[in-house]
Amino acid sequence: MRDVLQVHGGLPLHGEITVRGAKNFVSKAMVAALLGDTPSTLRNVPQIRDVAVVTGLLELHGVRVEADADGGTLVLDPRNVESAHVADIDAHAGSSRIPILFCGPLLHRLGEAFIPDLGGCRIGDRPIDYHLEILRQFGAEVTKRESGIEIRAPHGLIGTKVRLPYPSVGATEQLLLTAVRAEGITELSNAAIEPEIMDLINVLQKMGAIISVDTDRVIRIEGVARLRGFQHTALSDRIEAASWASAALATRGDVTVKGATQPEMTAFLNTFRKVGGEFDITDDGIRFYHPGGDLRSIVLETDVHPGFMTDWQQPLVVALTQAKGLSIVHETVYENRFGFTEALTGMGATIQVYRECLGGHPCRFGQRNFYHSAVISGPTPLEAADIEVPDLRGGFSHLIAALTAKGTSEVRGIGLIDRGYEDFQGKLAALGAEFSHG
Ligand code: EPZ
Repeated sequence: MRDVLQVHGGLPLHGEITVRGAKNFVSKAMVAALLGDTPSTLRNVPQIRDVAVVTGLLELHGVRVEADADGGTLVLDPRNVESAHVADIDAHAGSSRIPILFCGPLLHRLGEAFIPDLGGCRIGDRPIDYHLEILRQFGAEVTKRESGIEIRAPHGLIGTKVRLPYPSVGATEQLLLTAVRAEGITELSNAAIEPEIMDLINVLQKMGAIISVDTDRVIRIEGVARLRGFQHTALSDRIEAASWASAALATRGDVTVKGATQPEMTAFLNTFRKVGGEFDITDDGIRFYHPGGDLRSIVLETDVHPGFMTDWQQPLVVALTQAKGLSIVHETVYENRFGFTEALTGMGATIQVYRECLGGHPCRFGQRNFYHSAVISGPTPLEAADIEVPDLRGGFSHLIAALTAKGTSEVRGIGLIDRGYEDFQGKLAALGAEFSHG
């Protein structure tokens, strides 16, 4: 069965891999192409399942998507956009949350959109209340139906003023993709300003949009009547780069990640160094390596950009099980993002999760019965085990744990990892990992 990997752990990862465009940008840039009245070209696209899902959803809506041989370049032609059948959207979207971001562009093009019940990883209930409220504020009519949510904008979309309760990445993207063609000015306060969002703003500006980002994280957009296609090279995937860096640290290895870029990874690099990792930055990537000796425990708090991002936390926790002393990790973005630690504990790690806000500032999950802080005591040798991949980033952490543990682990459900890590098995082989298919 292809979905199972037998991993023979205990070997340092050693070698060079290449990371391409950011999963959490590429999917949004593809949706942005819907807004143009001429074709767009997107380069540095990774061949991951999320891109395939968005490609299928775009084709359902009449967009022609052509990929070159290695999938790295997509040409998206939105000149014949049409409504799609509800059942097709639902069937094709799977667990992806991306359909929610089709709303703005489809409302501009067709006056209607439909969102199936959304999935996404099991890391909290992943609500979309901010998204729906934003669409209503633009003048859309939002109706909950049995199979999903129907949205209409018979009178067009009018610019509005929004303040986000929390700097949500998706909600910020929702507003951007709707405001650029809305009538008049839109203002978003408490916006998210992640690098992936800034690159989406680059794409929209190339299409003809007028967008400013102020120092107080207020984004202002002047709606324009038409947008044209874009030509753009995606920024690199800082989450994948950090995942491989954490794997290098946990396995006492030495991994060069070509395509990794320093500006988007500043907070990770600082933490990597504090734990005892070393890195060399070159023009075409970053070399991450364990210099020998002990790793050091740390106190870490995840946050929105420019803080230490939540998606970096799971892979790094595996390296912290190999650090000397007590580490504290306070997860402030998602309420339930330590589920993956159960498998690590089963492999010999000493990890305790707490409801309290430990190690940093009180956050919105404090005292609400969410186990969103973890204490990791190390170093603890990890023993091979049979593990089930829980979600995308937790799954990669399980892979790192299996690579770190002595013995042969059986990692089940690895197909989930293909959602966000391009050719991860080819990369493991390039780094000298020993594994076989179950
Ligand atoms: C994006 O998710 C990323 N996914 C996530 O990466 C990433 O962890 C997250 O941003 C934070 O950086 C994609 O870009 C596809 P949010 P998103 O809206 O947009 C709450 C990965 O593995 N919230 O910033 O869904 C929400 O519950 C994934 O690549 C609401 O309450 O994240 C969470 O607590 C995991 N209501 C917080 O905001 C809403 O309507 C941040 O979520 C929307 C969000």
